[in-house]
Amino acid sequence: MTDAIIRCRGLSLWYGTFRALDRVTLDVRPGEILSLIGPSGCGKSTLIRCFNRMNDYPYVRVEGDLHVAGYDVTGGNIDALALRRDAGMVFQRPNPLPLSIRDNVLFGVRLHAPRTPKSVQDGLVESSLRAVSLWDHVKDQLDRDAETLSLEGRQKLCIARLLPVKPTVLWMDEPCSALDPDGIGAVEELMRSLRGTFTQVIVTNNMQQARRISDRCVFMLMGELVEVGTTAQLFTKPVDERTARYIEGRYG
Ligand SMILES: Nc1ncnc2c1ncn2[C@@H]1O[C@H](COP(=O)(O)OP(=O)(O)O)[C@@H](O)[C@H]1O
Ligand SMILES: [Mg+2]
Repeated sequence: MTDAIIRCRGLSLWYGTFRALDRVTLDVRPGEILSLIGPSGCGKSTLIRCFNRMNDYPYVRVEGDLHVAGYDVTGGNIDALALRRDAGMVFQRPNPLPLSIRDNVLFGVRLHAPRTPKSVQDGLVESSLRAVSLWDHVKDQLDRDAETLSLEGRQKLCIARLLPVKPTVLWMDEPCSALDPDGIGAVEELMRSLRGTFTQVIVTNNMQQARRISDRCVFMLMGELVEVGTTAQLFTKPVDERTARYIEGRYG
């Protein structure tokens, strides 16, 4: 595939002597929602952190080839700040900065484009909060402390604050696992509305969520990418016996 936005070839990662990724090869298509599933400890978070170059520790060794949105991530001299502007990360626990709602949304703009005029900044605050369906709730309280929002509101804000710097890829590592069913529904709806505009790679430990939201799914086991396919194919006609056992609920 030539138009892949993420191209991963034979990617391996060791924490010290422990091999957490074993020659992962994967192409991700622009605009798709791709879910990473597999039992706890299989390497989902490790893989998504590699994509954002967040495994830069002295005891971590990476081998293989990884290109994300034009960046040679495993190559020597990458601008990690620029990579993280073009590829934004959402975590399990919503982690807004201890600032107002407005300042959270504008944080990336002030970092990457500090001379952006005030009127443009105001427009970005509105469009980003609208994109995550928060605007109507908070438009009269933009100076409110972001940490006082509900869990769902904070997670939506964490997605909203990535948007002003116009990323092409969004990584989300179990973005719904701290939310109640209403919050999960709202964030899934948000992911669907962002489909096509952004490429979304989502780690989920909830197979039903993967079925609901993703175009394609990856099944991982012990650091290995076992199978990748369309969501329908992977859940109804898995090719690999290990995938079949996992979706039947026999482990994990
Ligand atoms: N910073 C780390 N140092 C050492 N081992 C780690 C570290 N992070 C994860 N691991 C190990 O790597 C494996 C994969 O972990 P992880 O990527 O978090 O899995 P998952 O997200 O699928 O639950 C696990 O065995 C885990 O204990
Ligand atoms: Mg994880």
